[in-house]
Amino acid sequence: MAKAKIVTYGCQMNEYDSHLVESQLVSFGVDMVDSIDEADFVLVNTCAIRGKPVEKVRTLLGTLRKAKHERGLVVGMMGCLAQLEEGQQIARKFEVDVLLGPGSLLDIGKALEANERFWGLQFKDEINDHIVPPPKGKLGAHLTIMRGCDHHCTYCIVPQTRGPQVSRSPDSILRELDQLLEAGIVEVTLLGQNVNSYGIDQGRRVPGLPSFAELLRRVGASGVKRIKFTTSHPMNFTEDVAVAMAETPAVCDFIHLPVQSGSNRVLRRMAREYTREKYLEHVETIKKHLPNAVFATDIIVGFSGETEEDFEQTLSLYDEVGYDAAYMFAYSARPGTPSYKHFEDLPREVKVERLARLVEKQKEWSMRKNAAHVGKVMEVLLRGDAHSDGFLEGHTRGNHPIVVPKALGASGAGLYRARIEHATPHMLYGKLVNAHGEVLPELPRFDPASAELASPLPMA
Ligand code: 5AD
Ligand code: SF4
Repeated sequence: MAKAKIVTYGCQMNEYDSHLVESQLVSFGVDMVDSIDEADFVLVNTCAIRGKPVEKVRTLLGTLRKAKHERGLVVGMMGCLAQLEEGQQIARKFEVDVLLGPGSLLDIGKALEANERFWGLQFKDEINDHIVPPPKGKLGAHLTIMRGCDHHCTYCIVPQTRGPQVSRSPDSILRELDQLLEAGIVEVTLLGQNVNSYGIDQGRRVPGLPSFAELLRRVGASGVKRIKFTTSHPMNFTEDVAVAMAETPAVCDFIHLPVQSGSNRVLRRMAREYTREKYLEHVETIKKHLPNAVFATDIIVGFSGETEEDFEQTLSLYDEVGYDAAYMFAYSARPGTPSYKHFEDLPREVKVERLARLVEKQKEWSMRKNAAHVGKVMEVLLRGDAHSDGFLEGHTRGNHPIVVPKALGASGAGLYRARIEHATPHMLYGKLVNAHGEVLPELPRFDPASAELASPLPMA
């Protein structure tokens, strides 16, 4: 199996896991290729959180099964869906050769050696101390600090796919971080289903592990320029985290605090373990310590039993917090979750209509928040070329996406300063400036429209 390709669906955890498996494959001498057509082995990293990503996996596996019969392609499936009975049925149907659950990714070596179907679904502790090498040619990296989840939100399949929470040792986290820094990483995003409960696994404090607040400080002491983290569960949010954020200069003023709903009745049915009031208290605590905090959230609309009044409370909570960004989803009833078993699903039209109204609300707020940055100078981490020629793209400390024209001394990825000139709900547009706030000379751009005018095609 000389050439492999990993296709990734799902969240940042899955991106991190794909990178983990890729680095394993490379260490076994496998070449990673860019397209499925070039590959002898295609591994699909799957997400099971909603019906849509599952459908996408099915469609891709259908195509891969054809290639398997036509040219002997070896097909693998890893990640969340692989761990579920639903995923295993799909794997059987599409004749998947290699199946690896989120806790058995390090079995990839054994899978390569096996000359027959290999299914690995056992959670292996070794994954927690496994150091993942730095991603190549990047300035930002993910760093997993824990796996699994101890909550039981009634809509969520993750506790079944990723198992109970296991925190990673600070030694292993900091060793991986050192390697990232050596490789030139300037921004690290700490990953976990619920980073606030780092060090407290299945309700018990793990001896020798620091709190999340203390971990933030230790990561801050490493010299990394920017620290972000995701995701925080409002139930486990404690003030010491806000204090550590404020006192650790590298930690960005950005907090992703999924609320899911603004209605206490719905929150109770979701088993979120906090109320609207408690959530808003956390927001106030964070604002007290970080007056410039940027808030992002996740919201599910149309959860079973959600009434128009419940939904209006979500809209009003959105106004109370004033989020910069939100990931919004129509509830998807997932087989195997408590809400699927016990509650009735709302009609699709109701969900679609509410989602559209929420998206409108989000656009209004994102526009308002982005517009307030016009004229400001902000630190931007540019990751490389934007879609338009001559422009670079990246994001601010508050996670706002930004586009700037390339300038003298700033024509590629890097950490720069930019003055914001224009904003839309989804993007900031700026110009690169020096330490005195003076605009750097822009590099000339190739403009297809004027190029055509300057050199008309010869007339036949
Ligand atoms: N339906 C819709 N959205 C869901 N999420 C989790 N489970 C479901 C579901 N069954 C959303 C939540 C979570 C995000 C990662 O996905 O908002 O925070
Ligand atoms: Fe990530 Fe959840 Fe999807 Fe798994 S099911 S990939 S944890 S979003």
